[in-house]
Amino acid sequence: MNKYYHIATYGCQMNVHDSEKIAGILEQKGYKASKIEDADIIVFNTCCIRETAEKKIFGNIGDIKRLKKQNPSIIVAVVGCMSQQQGMQELLKKRFPFIDIIMGTTNYHKISQAIDHVLLIKHYYGSVVYEEKPEIIEDVPIYRTSGVNAWVNIMYGCNNFCAYCIVPYVRGRERSREPQKVLDEIKSLLDKDYKEITLLGQNVNSYCNDMDNGWSFARLLENIAKIKGKFRLRFMTSHPKDFNKEIVDIIASSPNICNHIHLPVQSGSNRILKLMNRKYTREHYLEIIDHIKTIPGVGITSDIMVGFPTETDQDFEDTLSLVKQVRYSNAFTFVYSPRKGTPAAEMEQIPASIKKQRITKLVALQNKITREISQEYIGLTKEVLVEDINPKFENTLCGRTESGRLVNFEGNKSLIGQFVDIKILKAKSASLWGERQ
Ligand code: SAH
Ligand code: SF4
Ligand code: F3S
Repeated sequence: MNKYYHIATYGCQMNVHDSEKIAGILEQKGYKASKIEDADIIVFNTCCIRETAEKKIFGNIGDIKRLKKQNPSIIVAVVGCMSQQQGMQELLKKRFPFIDIIMGTTNYHKISQAIDHVLLIKHYYGSVVYEEKPEIIEDVPIYRTSGVNAWVNIMYGCNNFCAYCIVPYVRGRERSREPQKVLDEIKSLLDKDYKEITLLGQNVNSYCNDMDNGWSFARLLENIAKIKGKFRLRFMTSHPKDFNKEIVDIIASSPNICNHIHLPVQSGSNRILKLMNRKYTREHYLEIIDHIKTIPGVGITSDIMVGFPTETDQDFEDTLSLVKQVRYSNAFTFVYSPRKGTPAAEMEQIPASIKKQRITKLVALQNKITREISQEYIGLTKEVLVEDINPKFENTLCGRTESGRLVNFEGNKSLIGQFVDIKILKAKSASLWGERQ
């Protein structure tokens, strides 16, 4: 009889890729992917970056009670960042006694043993481990679900302890993967015809800082770019304190490395950046942006936060003026959310109504800039890597420019995975519309 699994993934690309590894393990165990209603195993791969994420996950786990009542043999597992938070394992168990397995961010590769345990002993399996520097587990089977793009971890964890952020507490310290392992994985993915590789790390620029092997992020990029064949290389996320001109020069001179840089600024105010423990100033950030802008056609994107403790109108104005100066092609904007155990949660908080006003203003500004930059594409012909069909429109495909812009155009799905030239005819806020040349 067939057995089925369903993985509900929350949070960042790191989690998306972890879910591909969990899927790989479950596929190897003979399970097949299914809708949540049909699953024998339901895995929640969780995120705790903001309270909104946590609330949503709590709600969705709660909904499972009904399924579990109908079929008590369903196995429910909660893994990922949320389970690593202090006291969370107990809280989850208390609120949702039907959970069978709780695992963390560094031991989920043992989910197969955990499932065997539950099947055999019919007893709760909880093992969240926190180690500062857990061993990197290689050779986990990966069931990739990301189409033409393949995610590749280059490092795990974070050492930065930005004052607002929970990640270092739930993902441990920085650990870099061996360069050879990264290069081998990429070569094998390109052999399998993946057309885009995205390197993953919380701060890719500090790659190999934890090792004494002479490697750096710049050297890694150089070596990947040398691999033969046509493909696109992307990476995320960069930290401005470690981003340097050497990386800019490598990107500019390597046709395989996309001219898109995601460089989260968080705030435009030096006072707030200091409180955030970001370790760079507005001036330093803008200097890097000037270097980056020497790359032809470059797309620059960012993460920006409003409402950090003590943020004044002037601090917020500094963020707006930075956004105007940089002109990001797109940005993820967030309202600061206090996270228990982080230094910022202990600072003087500002009222929700002010946070709301600020986020509305910031989003409006960024949308205006995004629209303006979109207009600049009209009339240009851009190479697009075709990713998928656009389910909302008949006969329509979508893909991205090297700079990261989404482009829609008419075409047959046999083009998925190919590079095509598209003349841009129309722009609708963040997305572009064109026709094949
Ligand atoms: N490592 C990456 C991304 C980490 S999380 C980096 O350093 O940029 C992604 C984004 O979530 C962050 O860039 C930040 O803007 C936002 N974020 C992190 N903690 C947050 C919090 N407590 N409240 C609101 N947004 C937060
Ligand atoms: Fe969080 Fe800062 Fe680390 Fe990014 S660099 S994961 S924002 S602590
Ligand atoms: Fe969330 Fe963990 Fe990523 S907290 S943003 S899933 S590293």
